[in-house]
Amino acid sequence: MKRSIIALLFASCLWFAAPVAAQRGATRPRVQMPQGPVRDVIRKNCTACHGIDEYAYFAFDAAGWRDLIQTRHKGSLSISDGDLSVLVDWMVTKFGPTTKPFPRTYVAPEITTFFSDPEAKRLLDRACAKCHEVDRINKERRTADGWRVLAVDMRERGAVLSDEELERLVEWLGRVRGTNQDQ
Ligand code: HEC
Ligand code: HEC
Repeated sequence: MKRSIIALLFASCLWFAAPVAAQRGATRPRVQMPQGPVRDVIRKNCTACHGIDEYAYFAFDAAGWRDLIQTRHKGSLSISDGDLSVLVDWMVTKFGPTTKPFPRTYVAPEITTFFSDPEAKRLLDRACAKCHEVDRINKERRTADGWRVLAVDMRERGAVLSDEELERLVEWLGRVRGTNQDQ
């Protein structure tokens, strides 16, 4: 009897602990590898040492990007002028001075209450429908982590919602607009 209670307690601890543990650590941006010539430039010059996600932490004009690439690598890079121009042009269109850099510090708070469908839809109407159709969101499928990256990015662009609201929305989107084929 005693042992089964302990087992039960242990199991319920795990059940509560797992999703929380999964949320620890700052949310990182995800950058899609571009197509075309710039893809080859990045493959050839950049991805031997690290990925391209970190680019999203910055928002610079061409001079700013050249300066960052220069100072972060202190002469350890040998990239041709032609390649550098292709790269910097692309960076300015994706992460230019009018974009918002992805925050380095967003850490998801733990949530204990979850959205019903009407609550989630109300938040979408309030926080997300200002700049584009909610349809754009309904068509999208992502894991909860993928939705978090997107929601943090949207907040940087101007969507107004608290951390708690953001997490509840992320949980709901992962549940209702997740990557499970049956949804
Ligand atoms: C020889 C290895 C190497 C190559 C090749 C390389 N990097 Fe880096 N990169 C680094 C290291 C090491 C750092 C971290 C330096 C620091 O923190 O001061 C870094 C930092 C960065 C950062 C800043 C990241 C951050 O989070 O602050 C950016 C942006 C970046 N690199 C872009 C590029 C681009 C663009 C290329 C290709 C043109 C490239 N890197 C190629 C080693 C490399
Ligand atoms: C201040 C304006 C603004 C608000 C508010 C806003 N968005 Fe966006 N959203 C954008 C812009 C701009 C793009 C296009 C980004 C691009 O194409 O690079 C976009 C694109 C998207 C996309 C498509 C992403 C893709 O990879 O194609 C989704 C999904 C999305 N937003 C969801 C949301 C959600 C969810 C909210 C509410 C939490 C929201 N947006 C609020 C400006 C906004």
